[in-house]
Amino acid sequence: MSQIPVSFIAGTGLSVPEKILTNKDIEKIVDTTDEWIVSRTGIKTRHIVSEGVLTSDISKEASEIALKEAGVSPEELDFIILGTVSGDVSFPATACYVQEKIGAVNAAAFDITAACSGFLYSLIIGNGLFAAGNVENILVIGAETLSRITNWKDRNTCVLFGDGAGAAVLKKSKGDKGILATFMKSDGRLSQLLMNPGSINGQVVLDSKGEKMLPFINMQGREVFKNAIRSMEEAISNVLEQGNVSIEDIDLLVPHQANVRILDLLAERTGIGKGKIFINVDRYGNTSSASVPIALHEARKEGLLPEGSLCVMAAFGGGFTWGAVLVRF
Ligand code: ACO
Repeated sequence: MSQIPVSFIAGTGLSVPEKILTNKDIEKIVDTTDEWIVSRTGIKTRHIVSEGVLTSDISKEASEIALKEAGVSPEELDFIILGTVSGDVSFPATACYVQEKIGAVNAAAFDITAACSGFLYSLIIGNGLFAAGNVENILVIGAETLSRITNWKDRNTCVLFGDGAGAAVLKKSKGDKGILATFMKSDGRLSQLLMNPGSINGQVVLDSKGEKMLPFINMQGREVFKNAIRSMEEAISNVLEQGNVSIEDIDLLVPHQANVRILDLLAERTGIGKGKIFINVDRYGNTSSASVPIALHEARKEGLLPEGSLCVMAAFGGGFTWGAVLVRF
């Protein structure tokens, strides 16, 4: 059953660092080849922050673009919700640093930890806050500096990730455009497949073989791959059903950008076809929670989501977490 939207996306923005790391550059760091990376992942380049640049810095840039497009001043924001797993510090929330940097003095700010689903989780939570009433504008961000939590000696993972930020401004809905259906789910039984053990209190985390784990992104790629397709398929079909629309009605699918093979299979399994799935993983790599809002902003700038179009965004990530959102622009 289609819902009456309580909020709509009034503006989007993105920011990626200037520095580009090519596959050839990575060949000099670990035992890999451009051919292996492109054939297994579709990734050609990724953007990497310079030393000292933090997640809140790139979030600020993406947010200012989104706010400008939405015609919303920072003072008019009621909430800032930021999905990230590579925040500036353990606490306070990186959203609070963004609040300070953009001057959103009237907002409440907090982070969401849902790995690559972080932006969609934040968007869904933000949409829910409108339903509670008395809310006009919410800034939702997905931003990562994954290069700071990547093990640059591990060829299994270091070729995959990139840094970047994407943002969207949600405004109280006035008509029939906006968020029509949402779905989010997680399965903590799969948490070991994709995680960063960190080093809180110097505590050491052991893997299943009793070995010490390093404080970087740790991933069992093949298992993640299988679950990614299954979970995004589930999330997409759920929002289509709630919205009472079929895959043929969708103008564009904007999925989490982890691996072009995952996206090709997703296009095939959902029946949306390759022409209606947005792909930019070749240029940015996997930017975790930033990937969906970066792709959304680019898709809008390319004119792929005109007024009245129907879009599904879908993501999966560590946790495991996954979700989808059906939106009418
Ligand atoms: N260069 C060369 N060889 C490599 C590299 C590399 N960069 N990385 C791994 N290999 C080797 C492996 O060591 C292995 O060698 P072996 O057979 O001698 O042991 C071989 O390549 C094959 O490894 P597989 O893991 O089977 O390769 P696969 O085809 O599965 O591709 C990949 C690996 C790209 C990681 C894939 O599994 C994948 O994309 N998985 C999903 C990852 C993902 O989407 N993560 C997103 C979530 S991230 C988040 O939430 C923060």
